[in-house]
Amino acid sequence: MRSQANSIAVFCSGFGSNFQAILDAIKKKKLNARVAVMVCDNPKAYALKRANKNNNPIFLFNPKTFSSREDYERIIVSILKAEKVDLVVLAGFMRILTPYFIRAYKNRILNIHPSLLPDFKGAHAIRDAYKAGVKETGATVHLVTNKLDSGPVLLQGKVKISKDDTLKSLEAKIHRMEHQIYPLAISRYMQQLN
Ligand code: GRF
Repeated sequence: MRSQANSIAVFCSGFGSNFQAILDAIKKKKLNARVAVMVCDNPKAYALKRANKNNNPIFLFNPKTFSSREDYERIIVSILKAEKVDLVVLAGFMRILTPYFIRAYKNRILNIHPSLLPDFKGAHAIRDAYKAGVKETGATVHLVTNKLDSGPVLLQGKVKISKDDTLKSLEAKIHRMEHQIYPLAISRYMQQLN
């Protein structure tokens, strides 16, 4: 018998193509999960349209209306607790979580980063790898800890950089890889949790 789907919260700030890959994997029954809420800090994020189309509840907040990060995180934690969220999935969420949030969901926050960590940490990983002239880069799914882009690695996918690659073509290759490995890593990790 199929076990009950885990509840996940997906956090997005922008385009949401990884969120879409997760929604598609759920639809194709490759990922036994339910998106309990999509958390977003940007009213212009295309990810909001994806959530609406899929009837996912949305928590959209404006960080500027809070005096500290912990203030809005407290509200988010209370929403996630009420929804009995098992796992937090960061998918292009452009905010750093505080130790308060990370403690509240210890070992239950996943992130995807567009490089083979520990190489090319930070916000410009694809461009940095491209400029460095490395022959290979990729994408990493990892657990989120208090140290940025440094938590235990769960899954990596390698991408070759060919001589003909432009930054744009490399970005497209890495995103394709991300869309393959993120739903897979989530699925595997949830099986460990159950
Ligand atoms: C991805 O490249 C991911 O690795 C990084 O942010 C980007 C989000 O893209 N953390 P999208 O919003 O999922 O399309």
